[in-house]
Amino acid sequence: MSELSVNHLLGIKYLNNDDINLIFETADHFKEVINRPIKKVPSLRDITIANLFFENSTRTRLSFELAEKRLSADVVNFSAASSSVKKGETLIDTVNNILSMKVDMVVMRHPNPGAGVFLSRHVDASIVNAGDGAHEHPTQALLDSYSIRERLGDVGGKKVVIVGDILHSRVALSNIFALKLQGAEVRVCGPKTLLPTYIEKLGVKVETNLKKALEWCDVANMLRVQNERMEISYFPSTREYTQQFGVNKKLLESLDKEIVIMHPGPINRGVEITSDVADSDQAIILDQVQNGVAVRMAVIYLLASKIKR
Ligand code: NCD
Repeated sequence: MSELSVNHLLGIKYLNNDDINLIFETADHFKEVINRPIKKVPSLRDITIANLFFENSTRTRLSFELAEKRLSADVVNFSAASSSVKKGETLIDTVNNILSMKVDMVVMRHPNPGAGVFLSRHVDASIVNAGDGAHEHPTQALLDSYSIRERLGDVGGKKVVIVGDILHSRVALSNIFALKLQGAEVRVCGPKTLLPTYIEKLGVKVETNLKKALEWCDVANMLRVQNERMEISYFPSTREYTQQFGVNKKLLESLDKEIVIMHPGPINRGVEITSDVADSDQAIILDQVQNGVAVRMAVIYLLASKIKR
């Protein structure tokens, strides 16, 4: 297969396994490119990309921008504090702005689930979802799987536990879709109040005991507690959360094997993960960040090659 089955990257749920393999093979090539002294290729010289960030972001925004620039695309950036965004209203404004700017591709992060799908129906541009509320964050899941593949050789057949705030996490949902599609086994672990009731319908098992979950898995993906998405308390205190669901060196050393530790960032050091674990060789957190650029280059390149001009 030499092209994606989709014209937009709105979520992992719209992809098939061949799409993922194609993205990874393309990312392998771009990973080699970004490790050269000249980290740039002229592939997208005729493409204009708008990065629209209606929600705060550091690494995802930088990562997309770097990916676009390393492909030689023209890039425009727009960011707005999430508080000023009202559902629907701003998106329509956005649509009109984009249409008048003659943009080929839009990378968008938005607090409303489905914002990317909405845009894709109203704008004649290729849309990449960079996170839509608590729904999906497809490029994060792709770079996560790519990093597992790099460390363990393959994703299929691996046992992955996603730990923490599953309820508010777009990273969790996209990871579940991506991992299942590639034939990995997935479990989620966290306080019951942060595990959505529908989760088992996605083919995922629940394990509320962290030690048991870690004993079972090859990879643990530690999520941040998304305090900004919580209007009420979901657990008694941060201290209690850390005691039950945080990983530390002692806990990892009590296992009879060495597991791989992942984190999408930003890390709350000392809450879901201690510094000695985050900075250890067991953790592939910075590999995830580096791979993010290569994987996003692959996604943008493959989508751009489907744009009709
Ligand atoms: C995540 C996000 O924004 O969804 N971070 C990221 O993209 N690297 C996860 C988080 O904010 O905890």
